[in-house]
Amino acid sequence: MSDENKSIYEFDLRLIYEYYSTIERQGPGSPEVTIKALSFIDNLTNESKIADIGCGTGGQTMVIANHTSGNITAIDLSPIFIDIFNINTQKLNLQDRVNGIVGSMENLPFQNQELDLIWSEGAIYNIGFERGINEWYKFLKKGAFFAVSEVSWFTEERPGEIDEFWNNEYPEIDTISNKVKQMEKAGYIPMATFVLPENCWIENFYAPQVSAQEKFLQKYLGNKTAEELVENQRHEAKLYYKYKEFYGYVFYIGKKT
Ligand SMILES: C[S@@+](CC[C@H](N)C(=O)[O-])C[C@H]1O[C@@H](n2cnc3c(N)ncnc32)[C@H](O)[C@@H]1O
Repeated sequence: MSDENKSIYEFDLRLIYEYYSTIERQGPGSPEVTIKALSFIDNLTNESKIADIGCGTGGQTMVIANHTSGNITAIDLSPIFIDIFNINTQKLNLQDRVNGIVGSMENLPFQNQELDLIWSEGAIYNIGFERGINEWYKFLKKGAFFAVSEVSWFTEERPGEIDEFWNNEYPEIDTISNKVKQMEKAGYIPMATFVLPENCWIENFYAPQVSAQEKFLQKYLGNKTAEELVENQRHEAKLYYKYKEFYGYVFYIGKKT
């Protein structure tokens, strides 16, 4: 399809995918944090079936693959990310047990009770935490786990500017205790929650974007959508530095009862 036939929405989405494909991670995280979350999961063998949902280009998936021995199916809506993902698995010689496919978290290609672990870093917000953990429940075997990272409030109260920003971006943002209640209500034992350290945002997410933004703006010189996209990212980063004591990413690990 040529650009003239694409809707503005499709073009925007492609620009967004292109922007994020130039950095290693598409959300806050780190190998150390992925390994820490994995340490709470004790049911895995080389027969295990693992899904990584909203995998992006696979920053965290390759870490999971190197610390487990089962099969991983990784799913993302973006074909650009999945192409990079599958090149990465080849480079790391993981292609026999790690497969990236294009698909939506709203319509996952799994059988009921097929999976031993559902992983999702910084992606469940696309359908909402509560909806995600409820809908994905059926794909897990009894006693299987999910591990999801999700933006959360650290305090009951916070300044109006940041409250308004996140309630606009993601109205389901909530406190850790309220997310844990949602896990219990959905039928999971809350096995662990922990806050991601600041380096997951600063060093691994915002810092690599600085040079990526320069290159992106040069490539799309004068393109309003590209300029707005970069401006939004810079604004979000500025707010993080200003208000990081009030919110951040939290890993939630649950076990199906
Ligand atoms: C913030 S990024 C996180 C990517 C990766 N997990 C990481 O931490 O680097 C969110 C990802 O969700 C993907 N995504 C958005 N909507 C989706 C959907 N409906 N189904 C599957 N993936 C989706 C995006 O393409 C993007 O790769």
